[in-house]
Amino acid sequence: VREVIQYLAPKDGIILDATLGGGGHSEAILSVLENGFLVGIDLDPAAISYSQSRLVGYKNFRLFNCNFMEMDKVLEKVLILPECQNLRLMGVLFDLGVSLYQIRTPERGFSYQLNGPLDMSFNPFSQIKAIDVLRRSSLPKLEEILREFGEERYYRRIAKAIWLKRQRLSNTKELVNLIESCLLAKPRFIKQKAVQRTFQALRIATNNELDNLFKGLLTALELLSLGGRIVVLAYHSLEDRIVKNTFRLFARQGKLEILTKKPLRPTEKERHKNPYATSARLRAAIKIG
Ligand SMILES: C[S@@+](CC[C@H](N)C(=O)[O-])C[C@H]1O[C@@H](n2cnc3c(N)ncnc32)[C@H](O)[C@@H]1O
Repeated sequence: VREVIQYLAPKDGIILDATLGGGGHSEAILSVLENGFLVGIDLDPAAISYSQSRLVGYKNFRLFNCNFMEMDKVLEKVLILPECQNLRLMGVLFDLGVSLYQIRTPERGFSYQLNGPLDMSFNPFSQIKAIDVLRRSSLPKLEEILREFGEERYYRRIAKAIWLKRQRLSNTKELVNLIESCLLAKPRFIKQKAVQRTFQALRIATNNELDNLFKGLLTALELLSLGGRIVVLAYHSLEDRIVKNTFRLFARQGKLEILTKKPLRPTEKERHKNPYATSARLRAAIKIG
């Protein structure tokens, strides 16, 4: 949180938290925002209601239950509020991936440690669940999902096993057992990695995460005012690559000054305190043109 605030440097104007989650970053932003307004977005209605009560001590914020790709429409609505008439968009934060609440709630199906339905959608009312991705995909499509979104070495045999059992799979425990059964002779850590990567791949496919990220970044970079800052926390190399390439594209056009040549990684102490943050990579930039 400290580094995010340091790079986002929220002082005035509108600061948009594109991935509100439990509202931790939003609260930290509001605590230092002097003459500004915070806008929070999340696909998950549970994140909105939780954060609404968490931030109850503040008045200068509005939360929206939608996809961050629609932040242009959200901003239009905010800019007509009387308290935002003279404000410009001065900061956008993306803290990608799953929230602690989502991973710890078995019914959401994100966790490979807790048994739950094969859901994995950020918006629990979404029409597309992980189970639909599994059941509707052809074998080549499943292979592609595991290879592209999971970078899983054993994608062929895992995809084949899933495809053969797709009509009978219904919960996360069954999926974990199935993946492990494909790699019976392999050491424990290989099985564990394969489970993690398969879950990551399915989650990305279910939520269309990489497309959303690219479109969300483009929209944010277009909407930011001169001098405005963007901070992105990515949790795996696929996300981070999109952030790096999009920042470079805008920097080459003279529109962006990149503040982090290399992504910032958590210190040993931070990793110890919060194991979920171990894979975090922070990139930040300023809009200059
Ligand atoms: C890692 S959590 C954010 C945690 C938050 N920074 C905090 O301090 O508690 C990521 C959140 O982003 C949301 N999310 C993911 N993709 C989204 C999208 N395309 N549009 C809106 N919200 C999204 C998820 O529902 C999740 O709540």
